[in-house]
Amino acid sequence: MKSISSKNLKGNILIPGDKSISHRLVILSSIALGNSKIKGLLKSDDVMRTVEAMIGFGASIKLLNPSSCLITGVGLGGLAEPKTALDFGNSGTAARLIMGLSSSHPITTLYTGDSSLSMRPMQRVLKPLINFGSSFSLRKDEFLPAILKGSVSPIPFIFDLNEPSAQIKSAVLLGALNTPGTTIIRDKFNTRDHTERLLGLYGADINIKRKKTLNEISIKGVKDLNGIEVKVPGDPSSALFPIVAALICKNSDILVKNVLINPTRDGAFEALKKMGADINYFNHRIMAAEDVYDVRVRSSNLIGIDIPKTKSPTMIDDYPILAVAASMAKGKSCFKGVSELRYKESDRFNGVLDLLKKNGVKVESNKDTITIYGKRELKKGGIEISTNLDHRIAMSALVMGLISNKEVKIDNSKTINTSFPNFYNLMTKIGAKLYKK
Ligand code: S3P
Repeated sequence: MKSISSKNLKGNILIPGDKSISHRLVILSSIALGNSKIKGLLKSDDVMRTVEAMIGFGASIKLLNPSSCLITGVGLGGLAEPKTALDFGNSGTAARLIMGLSSSHPITTLYTGDSSLSMRPMQRVLKPLINFGSSFSLRKDEFLPAILKGSVSPIPFIFDLNEPSAQIKSAVLLGALNTPGTTIIRDKFNTRDHTERLLGLYGADINIKRKKTLNEISIKGVKDLNGIEVKVPGDPSSALFPIVAALICKNSDILVKNVLINPTRDGAFEALKKMGADINYFNHRIMAAEDVYDVRVRSSNLIGIDIPKTKSPTMIDDYPILAVAASMAKGKSCFKGVSELRYKESDRFNGVLDLLKKNGVKVESNKDTITIYGKRELKKGGIEISTNLDHRIAMSALVMGLISNKEVKIDNSKTINTSFPNFYNLMTKIGAKLYKK
């Protein structure tokens, strides 16, 4: 796929379901008692890995058209041992959350993934789960494939989250569901809280104390979850691609419908507003225990911004597209404390530097900071970007092409299906010049 300089982006688009919430709804519905109906499920490659895994554990999952899904759960503690290895493809969230869930069941599971997922660290998730009484082994002590032997009689524990990762926190929360007694998690990073919100909807015995410097989450296990009917809010990280495109392409005015706005996830939206972005929220409603809005976005003259390390959990997936916005902002932008980007679907720290440098943007970096010298002018283009199986680098590069004199090409557009299968259709619907060949 490739893209070229565009203007006058106009129209309304409906953002597909949130990836984080879709994974969690499939997992929780699969262990609830009875039936759940999910509307607006994101049917992307990543979420389908969770669907296949949960079928492997014995859940009955029917995908209805276009985006509904009926799930009959196995009931708490009812996971069957999968007969074959589970292939998690590109999805770190699916693999890590399900590791947590299976760690408190008396079953052994084999985890595999694609070449990108097989290079991502797994100790950070599996080590805490040993406290439930599980054990594991990893290739080179760090990478997939993994074998996880779940605990026969799981034990609760107190866990201090040492890395700003919602996946690690959620893995422990999911393991706690089938563990008698109270598991306590202390999160000083305020990581995304979708699991906690959803657990409340399913009737889990969960309690959150917001203390001065941390959130203390207590969960009492072995309490049945009930099936639910739910609608999935739109993915804010996906929404940011058309939103940034409208901000930086001249004479644009779009309405992006159905966007989840959660304070643990909205750092990029807040940063863009501080950069001078004309972004307004309308039509508030609640879906899946989350706030949802329609978002109007108009072309804006952006200015550079300093983003401190403390904000990184609220925008961890959004630095690549924010970097594209910063390249079109007047002055210097500084993203601090972003070394965690090295461990995403690809090494996004270097991926962001590569994308900007190749397109003639001045950037500097040190161990965990990226500095971008933006200018409100079209970039050179005439480049091809290696996506390294990273959907967000792919889509960021294509948005970068919309402010480039010559085209920007990506080497692999299939990777976009990881999170945003109708990206091409929605972007071209608002007038972005994207071409499949
Ligand atoms: C996610 C958490 C984040 C994020 C990922 C989705 C989740 O990962 O990057 O895309 O759904 O919990 P970390 O928890 O590793 O930061």
